[in-house]
Amino acid sequence: MKIAVIGTGYVGLVAGACLAENGNDVICVDKDASKVRALQRGRIPIYEPGLEELVRRNRAEKRLTFTTDLPKGVRNSQIVFIAVGTPTGEDGSADLRHVLEVARQIGKAMNGYKVIVDKSTVPVGTSEKVREVVKKETAHPFSVVSNPEFLKQGAAIEDFMKPDRVVIGAEDQRAAEIMKELYAPFTRTGAPIMMMDCASAELCKYAANAMLATRISFMNEVANVCEVVGADVDQVRRAVASDRRIGPAFLFPGVGYGGSCFPKDVKAMMRFASSMNYEFEILRAVESVNERQKVRLLAKMKAHFGPLRGRRVAVWGLAFKPKTDDMREAPAVPLISALLDAGAVVSAYDPEAIKVARGLFGTRVDFKDKSYEALAGAEALAIVTEWHEFREPDWGRIRKLMKTPVIFDGRNIYNPEHLRGLGFTYYSIGRP
Ligand SMILES: NC(=O)c1ccc[n+]([C@@H]2O[C@H](COP(=O)([O-])OP(=O)(O)OC[C@H]3O[C@@H](n4cnc5c(N)ncnc54)[C@H](O)[C@@H]3O)[C@@H](O)[C@H]2O)c1
Repeated sequence: MKIAVIGTGYVGLVAGACLAENGNDVICVDKDASKVRALQRGRIPIYEPGLEELVRRNRAEKRLTFTTDLPKGVRNSQIVFIAVGTPTGEDGSADLRHVLEVARQIGKAMNGYKVIVDKSTVPVGTSEKVREVVKKETAHPFSVVSNPEFLKQGAAIEDFMKPDRVVIGAEDQRAAEIMKELYAPFTRTGAPIMMMDCASAELCKYAANAMLATRISFMNEVANVCEVVGADVDQVRRAVASDRRIGPAFLFPGVGYGGSCFPKDVKAMMRFASSMNYEFEILRAVESVNERQKVRLLAKMKAHFGPLRGRRVAVWGLAFKPKTDDMREAPAVPLISALLDAGAVVSAYDPEAIKVARGLFGTRVDFKDKSYEALAGAEALAIVTEWHEFREPDWGRIRKLMKTPVIFDGRNIYNPEHLRGLGFTYYSIGRP
C-alpha cells in the first residue's frame, strides 16, 4: 500500500519503518528540515534499538523515503498517518495545534480518496475536528480513522511489529477494510484488531496510559508506607503481583514515571474529563504522588548529609527509562535541578542521553563519557535510570573512586545486604 506518515518523531519514524518493512511504500514527512536531511543521509535522530538497521534496509529497498514536502507525500499515498506531537497546552489539555495544522495541509493536498489516520494521542472528539478541517479544504472523498499507538520507547520496533492489539476507530466500512488489510501482517500471531467507534478508540490510549501511571504511583505510595512502617516493598510487591487479578507489570517502585506520554496523557485525560464536568479524582493524586516521588532521593540525601552545598553527587542514568535517549519529563531533571539549587556539584553519566542532557543543563553539570569517571571524588551516587550496565558494577573500583561510599538507588537494582556487606551506606525505595 502507499502510505504517508506526517511527523517523523519516535512514533512516526518507527511506524514508517515498520510499515515499510512489511512491503508498503512509505513516505515519511517532517517539517524539521535538518531532521529530514539527516534521515535522507541515513542518520537516525533518536536512539531506539533496531531502528537504524530497519531504516537502512528499507531505504536501500526504496520503500522508505523522507521529505519535508507534505503535499507530495499526500498526493502519492492512499493512507495518510498523522503522527505529530500533542504536547501539554497551557491549561493541561492536549495541544492539537500540530494535528489540526497537518489536517489542513492534507486537505489542501488531496487529489482523490484518502484514509486519514490519526496516530497521535488525542482527546475524544479530535477525529471529528480533523474531519471538519479537511472538509473545509477539499471536495475529494476521505475517511478519518483513529488508530492510537501503544508502542513503548526502548522496545518500539518489537511493539509495532508484534502489537498486543491494534485499535481502530472507524466510522465507515471502506476505511475499516483498508485498515484491516494494512494491519493484517502485524497480527498474524493472533493479536486482535479491535474495531470500534472513534471516540472509544481515542479514549483507549488515555485509559491505558492513565492505568499504567496509576499502578506506578500506587506502588510508590506503598513503598513510602513500607519505609514508615519498616516493611520491605520487594516482599510486598511479589505477594501482590502473584494475584492473577493484579499481575506483576508496572509494580516497581522508583523515582516516578516520566517520558513524553504518561505525564502529558494523565494531565490531558483529567482536563478533557473536567471540560465535560467530570472530575477524574484518582488522576489528580496519581500526578501529585509522582511529582513528590521524583525528588524523593533528594530528601534522602538531605536526611543523610544535611546541607548539600559543595558536595559532589554522581548521577547514573538521565533518560526517563533505559534504552532511549529521551529526557522529556525524566525524573533526573528535577533531581539534578534541585541538587544544583542546593549548591551540590553534579557529575553525570548516561549511555545514550548525554547529548540531550547537555542541551538542558549545559556546563552546570559535569557530564562524563564513562560511568566510572562520574564517580571520582563523589560523596554520593544516585541511580536514576536502570540501564543494564549499572546492574553488576565493579564495587571495589567504585569504593576507591568515591570520597564516601553512599548509594541512593532510585530503582532498587541492588541487594541492600550485599552492598552494606561491601561497606556501602545504601538507601533505596521502600526497603529497609
Ligand atoms: N513517544 C512515544 O512513546 C509515544 C507512544 C505512543 C503514542 N505517542 C503519541 O504519538 C504522538 C507523537 O509522539 P512522538 O513522541 O513521536 O513526538 P515527537 O515530538 O518525537 O515527534 C513529532 C514530530 O512531528 C513533527 N511535526 C510537528 N508538526 C509538524 C507538521 N506540521 N508537519 C510535519 N511534521 C510536523 C515534529 O517536527 C517531530 O519530528 C504524540 O501524540 C504522542 O503522545 C507517543
